[in-house]
Amino acid sequence: MSDNHDLFEYKGCNFISNIHTTEYLEELINTEIRDDDVIAVTYPKSGTVWMQQILTLIFSNGDLAAVQNKLPAERVPWVEVPTLCFLTLPSPRLAVSHLPYHLSPEGLKKTGKVIYIYRNPKDVVVSLYHFQNYITLLKTPSGFGEFLEMFIEGKVIYGSWFDHVQNWYAHRNEFNILFMCYEEMKLDLRTSVQKICKFLGKELDDEKLDTIVKHCTFEIMKVNPMANYENVESKSENGAFLRKGIIGDWKTHFTVAQSEMFDKLFEERMKDFPLKFIWD
Ligand code: PPS
Repeated sequence: MSDNHDLFEYKGCNFISNIHTTEYLEELINTEIRDDDVIAVTYPKSGTVWMQQILTLIFSNGDLAAVQNKLPAERVPWVEVPTLCFLTLPSPRLAVSHLPYHLSPEGLKKTGKVIYIYRNPKDVVVSLYHFQNYITLLKTPSGFGEFLEMFIEGKVIYGSWFDHVQNWYAHRNEFNILFMCYEEMKLDLRTSVQKICKFLGKELDDEKLDTIVKHCTFEIMKVNPMANYENVESKSENGAFLRKGIIGDWKTHFTVAQSEMFDKLFEERMKDFPLKFIWD
């Protein structure tokens, strides 16, 4: 259960009061999924806007006009945000979602494709902390230490990071799913885009691939007003949706004690989890 007045709980997961509705979340479970649907699933702050950019450019065959005229959420909407109208998009529908496994559309088990992106949770909590300080929709945290505790307890948007990653992975055989690691994408974007193309059955020549990779780098996205969410309603001029985009920013936020505590918890909770995490 969340302590935040800006959130509400639905079936063990926390949603944003001004954006989500229980009626729509209920409807989504049984919504029809199409063969050519592609949904990038993430826990928040793990590479969603990045995938909005990558998917748009792969499907536009590297045509840059596709990322210059429309905002990311208009091109590749969140499945669970009713006003973004995922349900009525023309095919092929490209979408993103933060939904936990148990609230995702049942139809995805029969058809469609899922790309699940995971990021090391120390950087996720730092990114989320700054996001909550920045975005008007969410309550400002009182400090990093308290926010870290809330994150560990799952009292933040979309609930527990541990449950999200573990449940999607545990049920991977039910889906046509590709797991991607944020840090691997950062370290070798070209190979990562190629991997995504292969999964989607898309072929790109070297020149198009180079164009896509270039326009999906943090530096280029940061200065593209149609990629960087600069119009998001914010509490201050000082933040940004595309904040740093680096690996290991947790080192400038966690104390030694917080880091040791988190490592111990991670070891306990992720004991048998086979995917590799990159921390710095
Ligand atoms: S959200 O609100 O859940 O949709 O946020 P999300 O897009 O999942 O995550 C935002 C973080 O991803 C970083 N980002 C990138 N990193 C590297 N390269 C590229 N191209 C890129 N695009 C977005 C973004 O900067 C946020 O991370 P932090 O650590 O806060 O900078």
